[in-house]
Amino acid sequence: MGDLMRRYWQPIAAVTEFDDKATKPVRLMGEDLVLYKDLSGNYGLIDRHCPHRRADLSYGYVEECGLRCNYHGWLMNHKGDCVQQPYEDTIDSSGKLKAQVKVKSYPVEEKAGLLWAYLGPDPVPLVPNWEPFTWENGFVQIVFSEIPCNWFQCQENSIDPIHFEWMHANWSIRLTGKTGPYGPTHLKASFDEFEYGFQYRRVREDTDESHPLWTVGRVCLWPNCLFTGEHFEWRVPIDDENTLSVGWFFNRVPTDMEPYKQEKIPHWYSPIKDPETGRWISTHVMNQDFIAWVGQGTIADRTKEHLGMSDRGIALIRKRFMDDIGRIENDEDPKAIVRNPNENGCIELPIIGKEKLKNGFTREEIEKGDTPVAGTYKRFVFQAGQPDFVKRLFTEATGFTLEDDVVEGAVINRVGEGAAINVK
Ligand code: FES
Ligand SMILES: [Fe+2]
Repeated sequence: MGDLMRRYWQPIAAVTEFDDKATKPVRLMGEDLVLYKDLSGNYGLIDRHCPHRRADLSYGYVEECGLRCNYHGWLMNHKGDCVQQPYEDTIDSSGKLKAQVKVKSYPVEEKAGLLWAYLGPDPVPLVPNWEPFTWENGFVQIVFSEIPCNWFQCQENSIDPIHFEWMHANWSIRLTGKTGPYGPTHLKASFDEFEYGFQYRRVREDTDESHPLWTVGRVCLWPNCLFTGEHFEWRVPIDDENTLSVGWFFNRVPTDMEPYKQEKIPHWYSPIKDPETGRWISTHVMNQDFIAWVGQGTIADRTKEHLGMSDRGIALIRKRFMDDIGRIENDEDPKAIVRNPNENGCIELPIIGKEKLKNGFTREEIEKGDTPVAGTYKRFVFQAGQPDFVKRLFTEATGFTLEDDVVEGAVINRVGEGAAINVK
């Protein structure tokens, strides 16, 4: 599956996942694979099953160069060569069987604390160096969740500004038990295409066309990412019916904590289901989004929709998707493939509050709410279940203490305090 998505590097794991283990089973575009880090520190992404008699290589053990099957010791390297077959090597030094064996393998690269995989044809493009990856004095965290639905309906949510009002602002108010007052309503939305994706702009009843939500807007990054200025959300296809949500969240430390250099970018896995009720968790912004995505069905049935003027962005990305499939059929690059190293030094994007994010802001500015996502210095509003060790690292970096954020049995909403309303 995924001829088009294979043309793009996909984030599939965090570098820190390999601090305490050497292999990770990965399912990507319908293929079962194993990602590993060998004793030399090189990453490989190869077929999950051993070419000998199909044992599960995620239980294998790494050597100086490559991954060894734990069944009979065959050793595979990151190029998919079988470089040792211990018993065969002993009884027949010709290496005849070895030469016949090749396992599926894909390139892996490290960037911004993430491990990226490319499953497409040669020539391999560059992993885009998005502008926030170059920022300094930031505390970054990476968050994963597995969502049981198709990736494209997740991405349609990336160009759907009207949902902020209903799904985040107003629903959050209702989830606290209040019936209002509701947040400002949208009066106008526009959608434009640019080199790396689409921009959407909007005017609410509390803003006008001089507001950054209109002059700058937000970004739906092509083909499978939402970018809000300080965080990315990739929707990575595990297969047709499952998506890996990969979040990369940047908090600039206040100027009194500078210079700050993050040694390692922590990662964590966020739950999406309330264990007690079996219902989806609704306490956090992205969890609310997940509820929309899975609610549309495993693969949303577009024949039953009724699209309106709010959905013009959705229509644009559907068209771009079909056009790009046409382009790859004609051996052309689809949209937003980066091949030029000069262009990739730092890919600038439209960002509300860019100067502040780049140049810094004070503790007082954060406390006054006068910075991008000021609410996230009080509580991690995006996904449920942030572990204590991440909170501790956040406090060490920023000097701010985050509220407790345990997912308990009941689905309690704590977003309605206003923190979530202006984050997207
Ligand atoms: S099954 Fe892997 S070495 Fe035999
Ligand atoms: Fe949302």
